[in-house]
Amino acid sequence: MIDNITITRPDDWHLHLRDGEVLADIVPHTARRFARAIVMPNLKPPVTTTTQALDYRQRILDAAPGHSNFHPLMTLYLTGSTSAEEIRLARASGAVQAVKYYPAGATTNSDAGVTDLTRVYPILEVMAEEQMPLLVHGEVVDAQIDVFDREAVFIERVLLPLLQDISGLKIVFEHITTRDAVELVKKTPQRLGATITPQHLLMNRNAIFQGGINPHHYCLPVLKREEHRLALVEAATSGDPRFFLGTDSAPHARDAKESACGCAGMYSAHAAIELYAQVFDEAGALHRLEAFASFHGADFYGLPRNQDAITLVRESWRVPEHFHFGSSELVPLGAGQMLSWKLAVQ
Ligand code: NCD
Ligand code: ZN
Repeated sequence: MIDNITITRPDDWHLHLRDGEVLADIVPHTARRFARAIVMPNLKPPVTTTTQALDYRQRILDAAPGHSNFHPLMTLYLTGSTSAEEIRLARASGAVQAVKYYPAGATTNSDAGVTDLTRVYPILEVMAEEQMPLLVHGEVVDAQIDVFDREAVFIERVLLPLLQDISGLKIVFEHITTRDAVELVKKTPQRLGATITPQHLLMNRNAIFQGGINPHHYCLPVLKREEHRLALVEAATSGDPRFFLGTDSAPHARDAKESACGCAGMYSAHAAIELYAQVFDEAGALHRLEAFASFHGADFYGLPRNQDAITLVRESWRVPEHFHFGSSELVPLGAGQMLSWKLAVQ
């Protein structure tokens, strides 16, 4: 049995860090494990300009002074008024690596999102020209559509037309949760990639109801049936370069989760690479972890692969029940449970 594994330092291609005093509590978790992270722009108000993205980037760096090798990669939030000039500025800055599309109302802080993607097609053409990837939250918001079907319906209604209409655009189908999404990515040419979260690899939708309703297992897209989880594990561990690591770690204060109307989002940054290692280990595919975690995303974005390495050891450790989160508390994924892989202290 393999008892340790050294891999090129990984990157997290989908991460929520929030802003303000909580940054200092959470950024170090990511910075300890990852070299780079694509930082989501769904702040209140959203990050819509390059200037805002650069300021936010500096606040993130200031929150992890001991981690000078950590590089946040910034994103802009696509709105109905995003301009071509802003896209060119973003590209020229070198600090902004992507633009995020939230269907209006789809998830946490998405009210400023776009209602009809075809209205911003001219901007997407500019993004294609500038080789700026579009990151999509792939769920329709139609109240008629069952919450468990929103990703599959998004493929038909939005993603397939988009792939046809804007031919040169690189797209990342973020946090995929269904067999339908896996199959779409597999059959589409190289410009469509997909991130997969640890929670969608580890849990099916029963986890939301196990032992009573569990708000800490609620995220968007919501957990799906076991058959979908198995399709995701197969995709992540297959070695196919279009699937890569993106945690979607999304911290919310305990009282915002444990509430009559609990927020969507799971926090996994405290043990992200360890959780993926567990999935790959259980699938007998530890030898494929490095490509999924450290190569495929960088290659997709056209960025260099990292030079240094991390080591994971097979050693059980207990996840803390909670972390500080500014003046509140944060309950992490796997709180109080034992994990089987541990990051070696460097
Ligand atoms: C994210 C958040 O809290 O910002 N929540 C989530 O459940 N994943 C937003 C998102 O990525 O949908
Ligand atoms: Zn997200």
